Amino acid sequence: MEIKDRIVVVTGAASGIGRALARRFREEGARQVVAVDVDEAGARDTAAAIDGVAMRADVAREADVALVIERSEEEIGPIDLFCSNAGVGAGTDLEAPNEEWQLCWDVNLMSHVYAARHLVPRMLARGGGSFLITASAAGLLNQIGGAAYGVTKHAAVGFGEWLALTYQHKGLRVSLLCPQAVRTAMTAGESTATAAASSDGMMEPDVLTDFVVEGLREESFLILPHPEVLEYMRRKTANYDRWIGGMNRLMRRLTSGS
Ligand SMILES: NC(=O)c1ccc[n+]([C@@H]2O[C@H](COP(=O)([O-])OP(=O)(O)OC[C@H]3O[C@@H](n4cnc5c(N)ncnc54)[C@H](O)[C@@H]3O)[C@@H](O)[C@H]2O)c1
Repeated sequence: MEIKDRIVVVTGAASGIGRALARRFREEGARQVVAVDVDEAGARDTAAAIDGVAMRADVAREADVALVIERSEEEIGPIDLFCSNAGVGAGTDLEAPNEEWQLCWDVNLMSHVYAARHLVPRMLARGGGSFLITASAAGLLNQIGGAAYGVTKHAAVGFGEWLALTYQHKGLRVSLLCPQAVRTAMTAGESTATAAASSDGMMEPDVLTDFVVEGLREESFLILPHPEVLEYMRRKTANYDRWIGGMNRLMRRLTSGS
């Protein structure tokens, strides 16, 4: 799909990847961009910079997600592209409290389920639409130093696959964005997870948007801004035991001294 003249909704648009996507979609000529975030002031800043529309929503709450979809379609028009991008990093290890696992589950997985539940039937009724899930390379290769993050991003990948295999033939285009490290608030602090994710460097959000626009144009299922990820996936599936061994070595190197 081309972004020009499209109506696009981006969650997590107050910051980082979501803000960069919202800006880029406007530059590509989107008819309207809806910037959604639980951080209302941030969503307003993003919207103000691109003459877009801001909506406050906690994507972990189904009613909030449903309302964003309803309001967007009633006040602006049929959503062509929904970018389910909001995400959280929490639940580093076995000591992490259940609340952190639940938060990751609700934001990193259920937000996509809610959006699809309320939007996909509308899209199918009008012949199709596009749904982008920001998962992560952590959803394909797991996350050293990020137990709940890696697990729930795998769930997001699984859900994206399920959506695509169920509805693609009915006109739904699903894409999964799976970057390694990107320079945002999420990777700002020092942590084992960020050190592991940035082993191949840190990408700027504006650079990442090139890959997203191209991936959407080509209607690719998997959008991999870091090409190394494909090779790592191949190595993982070619020899799981060897891959676990390699990840252990990386883990030990990153945490030696701690
Ligand atoms: N930064 C990276 O290295 C990286 C790598 C791979 C994937 N990702 C994914 O990219 C997405 C965007 O993250 P980012 O790096 O831009 O981080 P970020 O922290 O800059 O942005 C995340 C945004 O999501 C919003 N958000 C969080 N919980 C929300 C909720 N319940 N409801 C509504 N909004 C909520 C935050 O307010 C924030 O504006 C996330 O899904 C993240 O997991 C990031």
